[in-house]
Amino acid sequence: MLQGKKIVLGVTGSIAAYKAAILVRLLVKEGAEVQVVMTPSSKEFITPLTLSTLSGRPVLCDFFHSADGAWNSHVELGLWADAMIVAPATASTIGKMVSGVADNLLVTTYLSMKAPVFIAPAMDLDMFAHPSTQKNLQVLRGYGNNIIEPASGELASHLNGKGRMEEPGNIVTVLKDFFLHKASLSGKKVLITAGPTYEKIDPVRFIGNYSSGKMGFALANECALRGADVTLVAGPVSLPTPHPGIHRIDVESASQMYEASMEVFPSCDVAILCAAVADYRPAVTADRKIKRAVQSMTIELEANKDIAAALGGIKRKNQHLIGFALETNNGEINAREKLQKKNLDFIVLNSLEDEGAGFAVDTNKVTIIDKNSSSSFPLKSKREVAHDIISYLSKLLILAVVLLLPMHISAQELNANVTLNTSKVQGTNTEAFDVLRNSLTEFINNRKWTDYSYEEYERINCNFTFVVDGYSDDGTFTVTLMVQSNRPVYGSSYNSTLFKYEDKGIKFTYQPYDRLEFNEDNLDNNLTAVIAFYVYIILGLDMDSMGELGGSDFLNKALNIANNAQNLGDAGWRAGSNTNNRYAVIDDYMNGALEPLRRLMYRYHRLGLDTMYKDANSGRKIIADNMQLLNQVYEDRPLAYFTKLFTEYKQDELVNIFSKGLPEERKSVVSILSNINPSLSDAWDKILEN
Ligand code: PMT
Repeated sequence: MLQGKKIVLGVTGSIAAYKAAILVRLLVKEGAEVQVVMTPSSKEFITPLTLSTLSGRPVLCDFFHSADGAWNSHVELGLWADAMIVAPATASTIGKMVSGVADNLLVTTYLSMKAPVFIAPAMDLDMFAHPSTQKNLQVLRGYGNNIIEPASGELASHLNGKGRMEEPGNIVTVLKDFFLHKASLSGKKVLITAGPTYEKIDPVRFIGNYSSGKMGFALANECALRGADVTLVAGPVSLPTPHPGIHRIDVESASQMYEASMEVFPSCDVAILCAAVADYRPAVTADRKIKRAVQSMTIELEANKDIAAALGGIKRKNQHLIGFALETNNGEINAREKLQKKNLDFIVLNSLEDEGAGFAVDTNKVTIIDKNSSSSFPLKSKREVAHDIISYLSKLLILAVVLLLPMHISAQELNANVTLNTSKVQGTNTEAFDVLRNSLTEFINNRKWTDYSYEEYERINCNFTFVVDGYSDDGTFTVTLMVQSNRPVYGSSYNSTLFKYEDKGIKFTYQPYDRLEFNEDNLDNNLTAVIAFYVYIILGLDMDSMGELGGSDFLNKALNIANNAQNLGDAGWRAGSNTNNRYAVIDDYMNGALEPLRRLMYRYHRLGLDTMYKDANSGRKIIADNMQLLNQVYEDRPLAYFTKLFTEYKQDELVNIFSKGLPEERKSVVSILSNINPSLSDAWDKILEN
């Protein structure tokens, strides 16, 4: 996950500075490039030499080199980095970051930083608990920085309490988690409404509410950080746009918010309606200031349109709608009613009964409610709440890909059942696996592999089972792939196995949300090349079983891939002495020596099995007679892998068929099978026993 990531590590003057050395080592081990920037006082705690040795780069501390006046450009560092970590961050540096006191290179680098910033405070418990530190951290959160909370434990002062800098291993985990989610909304268009609406009474007065826009802006920022294309429709708030990539539309009234949302939503994948929209507006807006004339007055109100309900009404199957419910009582009951009435996918309940939740404050306490379940979260900063909500959304989007699959499938070739068995690598990031399984399913099932038009009933049933033998968080996988394809026997519900193969030690890299792509003329991805290879074998063998030697086009494609994929750095492709690497298997099959075996595919399945279900004796006789073809190949090429493979995956079927056969059929078939694959003699003996 951190492979190739450029990290600026700011180190400040704390006793915890020694942990910076461990942090550098861990980051470098993960494949990150680390540029250390030190404050002058941090050099009292750890030497630049230690950190430059570990990072493999000169440490930066001063604005310029005293020897030649060369400038250490904090601006360039701000553009270079994928992330900045300040660890340890002292109370003093935190204060300078809040107020922009740019008297050292670390603070100027922070102020120029374009990438996300992570701050790991380290200080004495009373300093950390002091309102001034807490306020400063709150301000930094509000600026969009990520605070990595310190842990509790024994401090340098020998007091016990909260203030210990988080352990380097955990900081690395936070960073990896960040990069994992970073692209989770890539390619998605998200509409967010935020803030209050003002409904004019006259030119100087309005009906409004206390919404500050903070919750909606935090959501917009989180979505933008995860790669979404965000449109933020904002009511009248005094907040800056939180992320440069966000397209912001400022509105004042509910009607304007309605118009903007209705226009943007049709091109969006997701809408999150966080705005506190006024339900009513004055029926008439006076064009002059209303004068105080009488003791009381009545303003007639008329209903505003419900934006959430209107979007719910036009929502397409592949769009997602998320609402908020701000309640004062009966929270869950009211929220569920809104979920259903507005046709939302889920609703975020926040209640004014909870201290620190709702309007204007920097924190919120929410419960996410969908049709079947609800999940409650503790009081957190609005930034963290946004993280929780968008993580929930990301999971929903992944699920939706799977649920929508049948809609995408249209007259293509395969019904592939994809299984990802991760039991050998438990404990690692399961989201990465979910994403990979979904991507594989979509890739195999939805790609158009041929120019032929397959009807729905012609789609070939096959299984791709990936057993993950090794995985590391940088996206490197080692898997065993088991491929099997079956062909239905006409007039029956029986499926006969056409191909079954286990391919061990396949290596590839996959980062969550990578799009799986395959270009036959430019093989650059081992995973998709391996899949394409087996897909073409499945298609080819299926065609071979339907018409004698009918699958040549597809099988030649598999041969081409095996030929051209030798440089993908995976041992399974290599030609050579091994008779069952991918190249040797398909070369054998296509080079002519195995032609009788290919002819057997047709005669065994189309002529033999299909006939058997109408007329058992004649069908079985066809198969028995044509088993000679298998023998013919074996006599010619005893080492050919496919011949043996055929006997392996057909053993149960053959035992079944010939146990009921005539004595001379049994004898001739068993003699062929025992000759080719004596290791399965127990199975062949069963044919003779019955
Ligand atoms: O902005 P902050 O100060 O950070 O405060 C955040 C918040 C409290 C405003 C926010 O968390 C929140 O709860 N927003 C929704 C407030 C609200 O109007 O809730 P509601 O229960 O009245 O509305 C239900 C849903 O319908 C909401 O998604 C709302 O946006 C939507 N709605 C309501 C009325 C209307 N005319 N159109 C709508 O779209």
